[in-house]
Amino acid sequence: MFAVTFARYGDPSVLEVSEQPDPQAGPGQVRIAVQAAAVNGYDWKLRAGYLQEVAPVDFPAVPGLEAAGVVDQVGEGVHGVAVGDKVFGLGRRTWAQYAVLDHFAAKPAGLGWPEASGIAVVAETAQRCLDLLGAGAGQTLLVDGAAGGVGSAVAQFARAAGVTVLGTASEANHAYLTSLGVLPTTYGPGLAERVARLAPQGVDLALDTAGRGSVPELVAITGSPDRVLTIADFTAGQYGVRTTSRSSAFGALAKAADLVAADAFALRVDSVYPLASAAAAHQRSQQGHPAGKVVLSLTEE
Ligand SMILES: NC(=O)c1ccc[n+]([C@@H]2O[C@H](COP(=O)([O-])OP(=O)(O)OC[C@H]3O[C@@H](n4cnc5c(N)ncnc54)[C@H](OP(=O)(O)O)[C@@H]3O)[C@@H](O)[C@H]2O)c1
Repeated sequence: MFAVTFARYGDPSVLEVSEQPDPQAGPGQVRIAVQAAAVNGYDWKLRAGYLQEVAPVDFPAVPGLEAAGVVDQVGEGVHGVAVGDKVFGLGRRTWAQYAVLDHFAAKPAGLGWPEASGIAVVAETAQRCLDLLGAGAGQTLLVDGAAGGVGSAVAQFARAAGVTVLGTASEANHAYLTSLGVLPTTYGPGLAERVARLAPQGVDLALDTAGRGSVPELVAITGSPDRVLTIADFTAGQYGVRTTSRSSAFGALAKAADLVAADAFALRVDSVYPLASAAAAHQRSQQGHPAGKVVLSLTEE
């Protein structure tokens, strides 16, 4: 099969398309013929070598944590899915013609491949964050970086659960946040004052998805480090704030699919690139302000 690979750490130009052995579905897994695979921050951090101490790779490495496609092999012990089914989900080495998924759900009918390919990581992360924060109906949650992939998924899951959501984004994304039922404000200096004006009743919980140094201010806004969580600032422990990075909320994939079918969840797609333009897709993602998910497509759709 063909896959996007990198044979050394470096800038996006180290990405190329090369021949790789076909993966095989093991117990509990399915293999898909990939139709689209989304880009995550993890992919370009891995390629750049930023993760080599925590996640060293064997070269040539294939990026990709998620994809959507058509099942062509069903592993031992897997029930409820058959060859030919259309699914999306989480795996490794997904930027390839074929990929093995460890966790998957049926693609909602009518949802495009690019949209489906980007749901799994943001849905799992969003649900995990809301669970760790203990967010529930009647509470108020501040999401720093609310227009991003994870931030917008958190916002939509939280709204569906009856949580009041305030979110930061650049001005260009405020109308988008409003469309999700989120009270928008800008990020950066003076956040506490802006939040106090938007939520005079106070903020119960806060999530940092951006990793741009807002953690101390989020502690001040909520009144306690226990009420704050970050997915992107691994220095937060110095403020007594938890970080999370290990996937666990896999039920979120089916939940997201149900919410899509009920028109209560939608994923914005910023841009779609052919597999051969993986370097451009990385550049687009790592500049920090994509208007939705950056996706690699393997179809003509
Ligand atoms: N720990 C985990 O389990 C986990 C899981 C998934 C992702 N992540 C990480 O979480 C981060 C976010 O992922 P993502 O997929 O949501 O990224 P994304 O879609 O690229 O979104 C990034 C967002 O950050 C916002 N932003 C940029 N500068 C900001 C600032 N100074 N303050 C506040 N927000 C700012 C942008 O908003 P504007 O465009 O409006 O400026 C954008 O919406 C990445 O670093 C990713 O690697 C971690």
